[in-house]
Amino acid sequence: MINVRRLGHATLTTPDIDRQVAYYTEVVGLTLVERSKDRAFLACKVGLEAIALEPGKGNALSRIAFQVDPDSDLNEVAAALAKHGVKTERRSGISPGVAEAVVFIDPKGTLVEIFADYAFAKDDGRSEGIMPLKLGHVAYRVDDVQKTVNFYCDVLGFRVSDWRDNSFAFLRCNTDHHTVNFVYDAEPQLHHIAFEVKDWAEIQRAAETLARHDIHLVWGPGRHIIGHNIAIYHRNADKVRVEFFCEMDQMKDEALGYFDPRPWHQDRPQRPKVCGRKCGARRRCAITGATARSASFAVIRPSSRAAPRRRRAREDNRESLHVPPDAVSRSAGRFRGSL
Ligand SMILES: [Fe+2]
Repeated sequence: MINVRRLGHATLTTPDIDRQVAYYTEVVGLTLVERSKDRAFLACKVGLEAIALEPGKGNALSRIAFQVDPDSDLNEVAAALAKHGVKTERRSGISPGVAEAVVFIDPKGTLVEIFADYAFAKDDGRSEGIMPLKLGHVAYRVDDVQKTVNFYCDVLGFRVSDWRDNSFAFLRCNTDHHTVNFVYDAEPQLHHIAFEVKDWAEIQRAAETLARHDIHLVWGPGRHIIGHNIAIYHRNADKVRVEFFCEMDQMKDEALGYFDPRPWHQDRPQRPKVCGRKCGARRRCAITGATARSASFAVIRPSSRAAPRRRRAREDNRESLHVPPDAVSRSAGRFRGSL
């Protein structure tokens, strides 16, 4: 087994690289660190690469990069993977910050790039867009969740944080509650990508930035029950569902085995668990104090002008988390408050 330490960048394919570069720089607030005819690399302002773009269909993840311990010997990484029957190859020039990597195909068909050493991107000095801290997690629809979880845990060193019944798994590779999550779908495909911002104020600023670009939220603001992160979601022009979040659960000590205590946790202490129907029991919203039965997400501030969009939001929600169709409208009706 190898021990993945963090998520690097996600490579997305797009039919229009220029349009996506404009979105990731002007709206998301990333720095363009390299651009060629067929590729573009974008990093967060703090220097962590987040997104690579290459030609192809929209809303598709072609590669994902993970970092192991700096100074790790990549030959030993390859040998460790080979013990699990994983065929690897060595590649160079992965990105401006990643010179060398061991690559392989994971069970869902995504090319995984494992790197050890990383060179931070330079600050471009521009303040524009939302400017998240990092690419926090990537969620994927898979046709065999358990098989994918087994691979990521047994081969790559991830740990299971929570399950939602047996169809949605959340895995961590560091203190963050989840860095990858896998949800069942008969057709494997990208589910969403998520950027971390500093706090609620940044969530609000993100929502306003999106509004200025005439991009509507499809979900949120709200606090997830699983992971307890505050989140908003929208779709970009390639139909990629993009989340901005803050306040995700942290497991700072694996030996203790519980997430850092928070005022809004359901359990005492909050340990990894399987969330099933019980999660649909009445929950008290940490922000408004109201209660609802939303299985996974507490809507904080339904827009008073959101009615025409509400059906689309419900459809988006159903599509994403298999929440009963009326769950969102029920919770939206109860959680009236503001950030
Ligand atoms: Fe997410």
